Amino acid sequence: MQTAPMLPNTAPFREDQIAALNRVMSVTTAEQRAWLSGYLAGLQAANDPQAVSPAAPPAKRAPLTILFGTESGNAETLAAQIRKAAAKLGFAPKVADMADFTPAQAAACENLLIVAATWGEGDPPQRATDFYEALLAGDAPRFDKTRFAVLALGDRAYARFCETGRVLDERLAALGGARIADRIECDLEYEKAASGWIGATLDRLNAETAAPAEGASVIHVDFARPGADAPTRTRPFEAEISEHIRLSGSRSSSDTHHVAVSLEGSGILYEPGDSLGVVPTNDPALAEAVMKAAGLAGDETLFQALTGRLDIATLTVGQMADFARETGTAPLPADWAEGRQILDLLETAPGALTAAQLTALLRPLPPRYYSIASSRKSVGEEAHLLVAALRYISHGRARAGVASIDIAERHREGDRLNVFLRPNPHFRLPADNGRPVIMVGPGTGVAPFRGFLQEREATGATGRNWLVFGHRNYTHDFLYQLEMQDWLQSKLLTRLDVAFSRDRPEKRYVQHTLWDVRRDLYAWLKDGAALYVCGDANAMAKDVHATVLRILADQGHQDEAAAKAELDAIRRDGRYLRDVY
Ligand SMILES: Cc1cc2nc3c(=O)[nH]c(=O)nc-3n(C[C@H](O)[C@H](O)[C@H](O)COP(=O)(O)OP(=O)(O)OC[C@H]3O[C@@H](n4cnc5c(N)ncnc54)[C@H](O)[C@@H]3O)c2cc1C
Ligand SMILES: Cc1cc2nc3c(=O)[nH]c(=O)nc-3n(C[C@H](O)[C@H](O)[C@H](O)COP(=O)(O)O)c2cc1C
Repeated sequence: MQTAPMLPNTAPFREDQIAALNRVMSVTTAEQRAWLSGYLAGLQAANDPQAVSPAAPPAKRAPLTILFGTESGNAETLAAQIRKAAAKLGFAPKVADMADFTPAQAAACENLLIVAATWGEGDPPQRATDFYEALLAGDAPRFDKTRFAVLALGDRAYARFCETGRVLDERLAALGGARIADRIECDLEYEKAASGWIGATLDRLNAETAAPAEGASVIHVDFARPGADAPTRTRPFEAEISEHIRLSGSRSSSDTHHVAVSLEGSGILYEPGDSLGVVPTNDPALAEAVMKAAGLAGDETLFQALTGRLDIATLTVGQMADFARETGTAPLPADWAEGRQILDLLETAPGALTAAQLTALLRPLPPRYYSIASSRKSVGEEAHLLVAALRYISHGRARAGVASIDIAERHREGDRLNVFLRPNPHFRLPADNGRPVIMVGPGTGVAPFRGFLQEREATGATGRNWLVFGHRNYTHDFLYQLEMQDWLQSKLLTRLDVAFSRDRPEKRYVQHTLWDVRRDLYAWLKDGAALYVCGDANAMAKDVHATVLRILADQGHQDEAAAKAELDAIRRDGRYLRDVY
């Protein structure tokens, strides 16, 4: 249902008039409001023609295309922010997703702003891959008529920081594009830097394009969007943990937890496919070790900053350079950072920093995301998460994942977790609930599919549901096994295939299962099924992708290129969706 618009308190009325008008507006229909606005404008024009100047001929507004490449939505959000700011400046802005765009279309743009995230190990977001590869290909079009600038999103903890944005920026220049502004490379805390760059870049572009015609005026009203006051990364909701259960068996080599949080009063309205952002705190023992290595043990203010606010679990090349400069020590080679953390660096020159130097060296502690494993239609005002505790040894030291260990070890039922919503409109159940779905979700990748299944059950969806799950051992790691078996019995789950990698001498993963059942998989796809993949991006998603291509080639009796074209068509049809991390 559409809600009635409310006058903002900046409208040229007294407060009591605004309240009275809003009372009336709240009970009007869209037709009534349209009639009223036409009636008032007509009446005014008839009674006092001087007061209403005829509309100025529309100024020719400079076109601006904002092209984004995103995986988890940040670039898309920024593209929308740019569009809004550009419209205010009088541009005719248009937002496009690289998934639906070609280099030829981009080359036809007079003004082009690109917002691109980097994923994997320096890869473009998956849906942007075709655009990216076509732009790098030898037959890419020239951009001689295009002014452009690139905003790159990334994470300094990765060796190939903002690689996608860098490559796109350099490629567009090489193809003849005119750079309007230097590329900006943003770390996880991108909002402030990005806003500054957007403002400056649009101003420069504005100065270079035709000024709007005189006399033309546009009233810009920032309508408050529903959810504008929803919890955010910087203003999260303190959600009470109502359930905290270890799902992995006691003899399992993995450690995965089901965590239910109450969203009552948060205003968070999620859809299956969305993730919840969690604002973690650092391990107090690690914070103490960092302080000790820096020669700053016992500083309570510093301890609070190191546990709650700053990232002490990563190490970037930039930090190594800053550290060498501050301490006068010899710079370490770039690859030294790999698998190490700030603690390792501090130990190379113990006690060498002041508290101010240490905090200046550290970046803000970033949130982590967890797929929501529930449907509100089934669990009400709760969200369920499936969290795999991360522990590993690197350079001889035992290390722990910041957020997963915070949740798994330092939170219990009744405790509070700071959360906010990260919607993923690109990972949704089909609108047609009769469409079959195939869900490939090994490990914690199964989380959103539990949400999908709850939703399909609650809405009485008629489409068939096929889940392909995988993990290490059948006995210890079959996450949500009882629920899955119940759903098989109730026929909500039409089919369940599993791959346990450590049950037999030879490793077996979901991609092997998919290959074994290729005939059925192909038949489901031919019946219009949507194929979903969630979980590990580096190995699993790539192997599953390659296997699906092989299946399309094998079952469709076609070559690799034709299989790729078919999978592209399925993706464009919104039937191949991935949420991988
Ligand atoms: C959209 C999305 C949805 C997600 N959904 C889920 C989910 O449902 N469940 C879930 O558990 N996770 C999920 N994740 C992953 C999750 O956000 C975290 O990345 C994960 O929990 C690890 O975070 P952490 O803070 O515990 O580890 P961090 O402190 O962030 O440590 C992770 C880092 O440790 C390093 N590392 C890890 N293993 C090794 C190793 N063997 N050797 C050397 N270095 C290593 C790597 O640099 C890695 O980046 C999702 C991620 C995204 C983006
Ligand atoms: C699994 C994963 C891999 C990533 N790989 C890189 C990388 O190689 N280089 C980089 O600069 N950033 C990397 N990032 C960080 C993202 O680029 C960053 O979070 C960005 O804001 C995401 O933008 P999006 O929401 O538009 O996809 C990675 C993030 C994740 C979760």
